[in-house]
Amino acid sequence: MAQVIVCQNCKSEVEGVEQIVRCPSCHAIFEDPSRAKPVTKEKLEIPTELIHWDNRFLVGNKIIDEQHEQLCYLINDLHRAVQSRTYRANFILDTVKALLDYVSNHFRTEEALFVGTSYPDTELHLKEHHFFEEKARAIRKDYTEAQIDLKPVLRFLVEWFVRHVQQVDRGYKNHIGK
Ligand SMILES: [Fe+2]
Ligand SMILES: [Fe+2]
Repeated sequence: MAQVIVCQNCKSEVEGVEQIVRCPSCHAIFEDPSRAKPVTKEKLEIPTELIHWDNRFLVGNKIIDEQHEQLCYLINDLHRAVQSRTYRANFILDTVKALLDYVSNHFRTEEALFVGTSYPDTELHLKEHHFFEEKARAIRKDYTEAQIDLKPVLRFLVEWFVRHVQQVDRGYKNHIGK
């Protein structure tokens, strides 16, 4: 039975090593390598969600909060599809496309709310959305052409979601209606 070590930081599975000192996937360094515990594949527990939706993400607008919650579910869906290893590449590609399309539609909803308000950070916010959409185009292209490893993509999506919603989206909380 293959022995697998799980990185305690990004949950990547590594085979064929005694212990992880530096995770080859996320590059986390373990000062105490015993933190990265060996487990057998049978005992491997894959978390069912990467982001747990809760009120730390609320911006106070019903439509936006529902869209952010849906986005959170779509990221978790992609995570489960990638981890299960039983889905076909076409299904995963459809999941990636659905998620990225959903984000673009969500951006347009937010941007429409800025029009006619005195929200002072509109330009900066649009730049953030533009940056994500550039990155999304590259992810879509890379996965379509070569079925790249999606674990780093998921890490990017989680980090982006948490930071953008909590730090950038919440900035307009007092400038748009409920
Ligand atoms: Fe948002
Ligand atoms: Fe936004």
